[in-house]
Amino acid sequence: MYPFPPRSMGGMSASLDDLPLRDDLRGLTPYGAPQAPLPVALNVNENTHPVPEDVADDILDGIARALRDVNRYPDREFTSLREGFADYLGHGLTPEQIWAANGSNEVLQHLLQAFAGPGRTAFGFGPTYSMYPLLTRATGAEYVTGTRGVDYTLTPEDAAAQVADAAPDVVFLCAPNNPTGTPLSLETIAAVYDAAPGIVIVDEAYQEFAPRESRSALTLLPDRERLVVSRTMSKAFAFAGARVGYLAADPALIDALRLVRLPYHLSALTQAAATAALRHAPTMLGMVDEIVSQRDRMSATLEALGYQPYESWTNFVLFSGVDDPAHTWQGLYDRGILIRDVGIPHALRVTAGTEQETSAFLDALASL
Ligand SMILES: Cc1ncc(COP(=O)(O)O)c(C=O)c1O
Repeated sequence: MYPFPPRSMGGMSASLDDLPLRDDLRGLTPYGAPQAPLPVALNVNENTHPVPEDVADDILDGIARALRDVNRYPDREFTSLREGFADYLGHGLTPEQIWAANGSNEVLQHLLQAFAGPGRTAFGFGPTYSMYPLLTRATGAEYVTGTRGVDYTLTPEDAAAQVADAAPDVVFLCAPNNPTGTPLSLETIAAVYDAAPGIVIVDEAYQEFAPRESRSALTLLPDRERLVVSRTMSKAFAFAGARVGYLAADPALIDALRLVRLPYHLSALTQAAATAALRHAPTMLGMVDEIVSQRDRMSATLEALGYQPYESWTNFVLFSGVDDPAHTWQGLYDRGILIRDVGIPHALRVTAGTEQETSAFLDALASL
């Protein structure tokens, strides 16, 4: 009667191997940064400062108003939110050039659904954000990994040559790069764009933590209709739990994303929360300078402890010189501190926390 005995009858659960899963998904591992309830969580590059009280009150008002109409589908075009992002980004951008989704992960997924897919390829310079290959393969496309130079940097010539050689349909440029923190020059982005036959995505998830005088890839958008700059509210905006990411690109490219999004993909509550938070952008971003100073303190102290921190323009630091990363990771875990082993030999990655959290991490590391 049943293909598998139901669990309630004491039957065994099926394993993935028993299911008619797509062949190209077999053997893949899902995203799985540990979520352990430790007192100091510095493992997924969140903003560890909560949303300020007065902003939280205003966001709650917005959500309460949206709730009254929640029997209706939300604005499919999230018009107010797109206006808010255009205002926030500046650079003469208009709402027609903005797209948003549930986290920049979904924004990237929309891009891949529209521009990758079976028979196509996406390309990134490793090590880089671990979701790029997973999102790519989930659309049935192939993922190709390029290489970086000294200290994970990229030069315009080398990057452009690798991209010309691979001729991918989609290029990911993570600027600054996760998990290394490495900045990326606008010259390199422009050279990659010229060498690429397809879409070039500059993932600026951490741009707000870069030096104030550094220029965003948004300045490169005019006359580059295949260029996309993606951002997130998860990091600088302290909004990771709300799941809001966005991008800026040519209006025609935005139209392509309408083909693949689910109808009403951004809930009315998400739209209301993000729109209200954007009205308070300066306050929401108020902690960025403090986080940057904790990041720099972290790098300086790591160096004093004999490790080699890499230059970082983000809210985290990758440091090498770790004899046994798994052992050090466990030692910190046992002291209530969660950081990230990203699989780079002799290296670990740690998010800049509050002053107290940063001290707790540095003290625990020194005591190991
Ligand atoms: C480089 C990069 N891009 C995108 C994301 C996804 O962010 P979210 O989906 O929370 O917007 C992250 C998260 O850590 C990231 O590091």
